[in-house]
Amino acid sequence: MTNTKNCQKVALITGGSKRIGASICKALHAFGINVIIHYGKGLQSAKNLSDELNAIRKNSAKMIGFEFIDIDNITKTNAFKNQVLNLFGRLDIIIHNASSFYPSDLNDEFEVLNRHWNDLFLTNAKAPFFISQLFLEELQKNNGQIVSILDIHADNKPYVGYSIYTMAKTAHKAMVQCLALELAPSIRVNGISPGVNILPPDFDEAMRATLTNSVPLKQIGTPDDIAGVVIFVLNAPYMTGQVIAVDGGRGLTLKGG
Ligand SMILES: NC(=O)c1ccc[n+]([C@@H]2O[C@H](COP(=O)([O-])OP(=O)(O)OC[C@H]3O[C@@H](n4cnc5c(N)ncnc54)[C@H](OP(=O)(O)O)[C@@H]3O)[C@@H](O)[C@H]2O)c1
Repeated sequence: MTNTKNCQKVALITGGSKRIGASICKALHAFGINVIIHYGKGLQSAKNLSDELNAIRKNSAKMIGFEFIDIDNITKTNAFKNQVLNLFGRLDIIIHNASSFYPSDLNDEFEVLNRHWNDLFLTNAKAPFFISQLFLEELQKNNGQIVSILDIHADNKPYVGYSIYTMAKTAHKAMVQCLALELAPSIRVNGISPGVNILPPDFDEAMRATLTNSVPLKQIGTPDDIAGVVIFVLNAPYMTGQVIAVDGGRGLTLKGG
């Protein structure tokens, strides 16, 4: 991927319209890559970002809506595939960034936990797997790459209270390792694990201070910290099946299983 600026590569970034996804889109775009911004419900944010990027470089950003709940619907999934491939006529890179994230209360009713199970596994494991599979032929043709945005809690560091999320992200991490082996040498597959890169909006100053203090580097990360490592991974041609933590050292302070 070293001469990327001159060969007009195309990347699909899932959940790319906001937060970490938007930072990744901007970083890839600044690197000369054309971006396909995937959104679920965030049509307006995707449109705003795409307008912003197209103002910098004409016809360099497009968007695609796809609710992962439709992944079981072959007709809709094939339509998604065809639309993605038609946007720029090729695809070289998939960044699996989209995710849902919330706690699992073991005291909840079966119906609630089952709904959460289906949603958390859908966004964090099933969609990344089937979206990768959907574009395999195209990525093989282009010596493409897959980068998965994981979580430090998927590295044998269970997130207490978030069991289903932890399980789903751990499955996603296993996908990175399995696909890296199965798709080598034509496609490289790597993962990046954020620690705390954006705090939930309902965190007050005291909670922020406690969390900041728990990070060895004494700061909350930023979406750009993740985006920078995506660029690094894309340009590391001898690297596959690896997961890099970008967490200010926080993972080292967590108890392993
Ligand atoms: N934020 C952190 O500090 C942190 C920490 C550890 C790991 N991570 C990981 O880093 C990645 C990005 O984090 P983030 O906080 O920026 O993500 P986020 O805002 O929670 O989610 C990213 C996007 O995922 C999309 N999405 C969710 N459910 C979907 C569905 N059913 N169908 C289609 N799209 C769906 C949403 O797109 P729409 O808005 O368009 O619906 C959403 O904007 C995630 O994989 C997350 O697990 C983040």
